[in-house]
Order: sequence, then structure tokens, then C-alpha cells
Amino acid sequence: MNQFHFHCGKNPAVASFERCSAVFRGQLSRVLAGQPFLIAVLVLSITQVLVSPLEAAERLVVYSGRAERLIKPVLDAFQAKTGVQVDLLSSGTTELVNRLQAEGDRTPADLFLTNDAGSLERARELGLLLPLKMEEVERTIPAPFRALDNSWVGLSERFWIAVYNTALVKPTDVKSILDLGDPRWKGKIAIPNAGSEYLQAGVSVIKAIYGDDRTERLLHGLKVNAGAQVYGKSSQIVEAVAKGQVAMGLVNHYYIYRHLATQPGAPIAALMLDQHDGGMGAIVNVAGAGIIKSSRHLDTAKRLVEFLISQEGQKLFADLNKEYPLHPHVTADPTLPDRRSFRAVTMPLVRLGELREPTMALIEHTGLR
Ligand SMILES: [Fe+2]
Repeated sequence: MNQFHFHCGKNPAVASFERCSAVFRGQLSRVLAGQPFLIAVLVLSITQVLVSPLEAAERLVVYSGRAERLIKPVLDAFQAKTGVQVDLLSSGTTELVNRLQAEGDRTPADLFLTNDAGSLERARELGLLLPLKMEEVERTIPAPFRALDNSWVGLSERFWIAVYNTALVKPTDVKSILDLGDPRWKGKIAIPNAGSEYLQAGVSVIKAIYGDDRTERLLHGLKVNAGAQVYGKSSQIVEAVAKGQVAMGLVNHYYIYRHLATQPGAPIAALMLDQHDGGMGAIVNVAGAGIIKSSRHLDTAKRLVEFLISQEGQKLFADLNKEYPLHPHVTADPTLPDRRSFRAVTMPLVRLGELREPTMALIEHTGLR
């Protein structure tokens, strides 16, 4: 069986049962030439295996909005442990949700994995995901980080925070994310463009906690303060801060630690915002996964979810992107600030789904581009 899996189905879009079994039969006939009895026995058992549900249960297709290099090693570890072959299709999160919707019940996907709870919640709303009854999930992953019916499950925390240039800013200069809209930072802030899922999720959280008026004021302020310093990639924001082009920027925390890993002398540091009394805490989102409703490999897909929330899976998954594991007994990469040293927003992440549309309208209204 291993040989069969090894040779087939690298690309889920073109892999087919027929093609794979033809390849396998070709390999077999070369190996078995001149051994009629063995051939008869093997052909019989192969035929059984090929048509039995067992065969279907040993392969999975994962649609991933997370970059391949950040997920492949985890899936490889799962494959090494279980023998289950995992085919990975990586693309943009929105593209994958659209694709799943278009493919409907015919989708080859068994699992959807991505970096934003709002997108996972949208997939749930579209009826693409299967509600899960899994004790391990409920025991391991705190309720604010999964869907109400567990149709998606958070795997790691990511924080949308400030990166600042240590020569230009004192960490005591800024307390709340709302301060970044203040006129004193005119021309000194870098922000992501309006298409950024990080910006959208961040604005949703700010809006839910601090209200529409303060959020609108912040966005107007950010627009003025950023001027032309609006970027498509978070790594560009960190670079602009490191070069001193701007004093501060808004990014997910791991971009800062990734930059520092390759350039330890860079004059940048992370600033956890809204930690003061009455502050909401740092803006949090999760990377997470859900099983596709029409998956025909349900038991195997559940085994992958189990692996992703296990101590081994959690360590691998979180460390690859310098995120914080959600498993209470797994520690984060030691170069990150201790998770107990700062507070995060406590809003249940399912709310990112319902907040999405009004947030987009507000972003558009303020003219952020
Ligand atoms: Fe990212």
C-alpha cells in the first residue's frame, strides 16, 4: 500500500483513482512477472483494497491558506506517524473559500486550514464545514478560539501589535492602538493596505470593543499618519520601521521575530498594546482548521485534527510561524515574549464572522486603501 500511495496523487486536482490504480498495476506487473499464483492473490486483494472504504480512508486532501513551508512539515510528521498521505493545495484564503463553495459536494478537500478566524467562520456560515463532537478538542482548545459547534478549531494565536524603532520611540510613548491615530504620529506610522485580512480582523476587534466612533476616528488618523506608507506585505512594514522610514507599524507579532531571527541587531522591538487598566488587551486572531462537510474520509480527517491539537502537533504547528500554541501545556518558541506576560482581547473569535461586513464598510467609508 505504501508504494501505491508514494506514486500517486501529488496534485489533488489531477490525481484520480483510475490513474493511480493504472500506475500501481504497471509497477506490479513488472515485479510479479512469472509468478501466477502470487499475482492472482495480489490482484484479488488489491481489488478489494481499491474498492473498500479503507483505501479511501488513507488519504486526505488539505486546502491551506497558510504558506506551504509553514504547514508541510506538520503534515509530513502526521504522514510519518500514521501512514496517511496528505495532499496539500495552498492558495489565498478567499480563493479557497470560493473554490470550496464552487466545488460543493464534489470537492476533493477533506480539511480547510487557514490563518484567520473570520474566514473560518465565513466557511462555517456557508455550510462548508462539519460540526465536530470531539472531546479532545473541547478539552484542549479554549472555547473563545473555536466555532460554537466546533466546525472550526483554532490551533495557534497570533497578535496584531505595534513594531517600533527603538531609536525613535520609547515604549512608554504609546499605550493603546487608539493612540496611533494621534496627530503627533503624522508621517511616522506604516500600516497594511485595506485588503489585508489582518487589518480587517483588527478593525473588527477595535470596533467591537471601543465602538464605532472611536474606531472611525482611529482610521481617519491612521490614514493621515501613514500617508504613503501603506504596504501589501507585513514584512515591508517591519523593514520600513527597521530602516527608520517610520517610527512604528502595525503587524502580526511573528513578522517582528522573524526579522530579528535573521537580523538580530535590527533596531526594532514589539509593543503589546492596550495592556493598561481598562485597555482591551492585544488584538488576537488564530490560525485554525475545519473538516469539510462532504469529506468521505471523516475518521482520517478527525485523526489529523487530533494530531494538530496534540502536544507534538501543537509544538510543530506554532513554532513554524513563531505563533503561540493554544494547547495549555505546550510552550511557545523561547524567543517570543512569555504568553503570561501580556493580556489579549477576550472577545470570542466567532464574532469576527458577523463583524466582517460592517468593518469592510467602515474601512471603505474612511477611504483607507
Ligand atoms: Fe502572516
